[in-house]
Amino acid sequence: MATINDNYLKLKAGYLFPEIARRVNAFAEANPNAPIIRLGIGDVTEPLPEACRTAMIQAVQDMGDRAQFKGYGPEQGYAWLREKIAQHDFQSRGCAIDAAEIFVSDGSKCDTGNILDIFGDDNAIAVTDPVYPVYVDTNVMAGHTGHASDTGEYGGLVYLPITAENNFTAQIPTQKVDLIYLCFPNNPTGATASKDHLQAWVDYAKSNGSIIFFDAAYEAFITDPAIPHSIYEIDGAPECAIEFRSFSKNAGFTGTRCAFTVVPKALTAKAADGSKVKLWQLWNRRQSTKFNGVSYIVQRGAEAVYSEAGQPQIKALVRFYMDNARIIREQLIAAGLSVYGGVNAPYVWVKTPSGLSSWDFFDKLLQGCHVVGTPGSGFGSAGEGYFRISAFNSRENVEEAMQRITKRF
Ligand code: MLT
Repeated sequence: MATINDNYLKLKAGYLFPEIARRVNAFAEANPNAPIIRLGIGDVTEPLPEACRTAMIQAVQDMGDRAQFKGYGPEQGYAWLREKIAQHDFQSRGCAIDAAEIFVSDGSKCDTGNILDIFGDDNAIAVTDPVYPVYVDTNVMAGHTGHASDTGEYGGLVYLPITAENNFTAQIPTQKVDLIYLCFPNNPTGATASKDHLQAWVDYAKSNGSIIFFDAAYEAFITDPAIPHSIYEIDGAPECAIEFRSFSKNAGFTGTRCAFTVVPKALTAKAADGSKVKLWQLWNRRQSTKFNGVSYIVQRGAEAVYSEAGQPQIKALVRFYMDNARIIREQLIAAGLSVYGGVNAPYVWVKTPSGLSSWDFFDKLLQGCHVVGTPGSGFGSAGEGYFRISAFNSRENVEEAMQRITKRF
């Protein structure tokens, strides 16, 4: 009989968001008239920017024209999109990133999991606690961990607690780790990292031969000009960091799917024989073998993000969600809750009132207010006693949800 990848059996109950959906569906079935507002998963609600739609409609027309028709595209993405990304997102900020170092993909979630394909199984891996669960679960699936403890920590991973006491930025570890996952602006806490903090990580990585996986999916939500948008704004980062970016949240592409990963050519890691191998070369090989690229139509839509028409539309979209975040913050603070994040990030991280556990607060909000959020403990044991509220929803829903919550707490 065929056998399975037993590592999957080590995974806890379910991926956090399907688990929330399961509970919400059960509640909705039992209470069909309850007007549920979902501020749980960070999924966008506002329509795609007009510039992106227009570009995609034109791309569909191209596909109907023999002279313009496109079959398989380059696995790495079309050069015209990679060049715009390199220029607008990196070179304009003084980052020496070239178009050839950009790999267009269908999502950062997929890429942060897939990147493990090109690394060995014996790396020491550090994640923050709380953390975006995909970083942990993909390492469990790949067999890089032991079993989960009662508090949900997997053997073999190094957990770096991020708490209110350290401003939700992890202390640089004292032991040696090979792979480090950092996410700024942070999901779930909404915290950001200063240049000095990131410099300390880059210095650590360079002196230990470590690689930083830098997830910058929420960089567009940074409002403070002193906060870096990319790890490549930090000296030495192209020699020790891979960056993940996405069009999901800034341009509303969660359902359209387009993202990119930056693998600098200067980045190397060690082979079994001790020689240094370029990670660019491995990722290029991996993508060319396992991936056939993002559709031409979607890449044209992503390209329009950088157009003269697209730029103000994207900024307006980001501002819209950040106004939601401001409303959530202000209302919850006025209700006496301790609130973090939501200033340079679309997530608001709330201390649960009266010492309630994260899931108890989840149930109270669902049953008493018909509002869905995300229990902090779902992101790791240090998230216990916290709750994440997403700013991705309509203004009407956000205002209504805040009214219901503030009336009750
Ligand atoms: C979240 O809610 O944390 C995000 O939607 C997850 C994701 O982008 O995959």
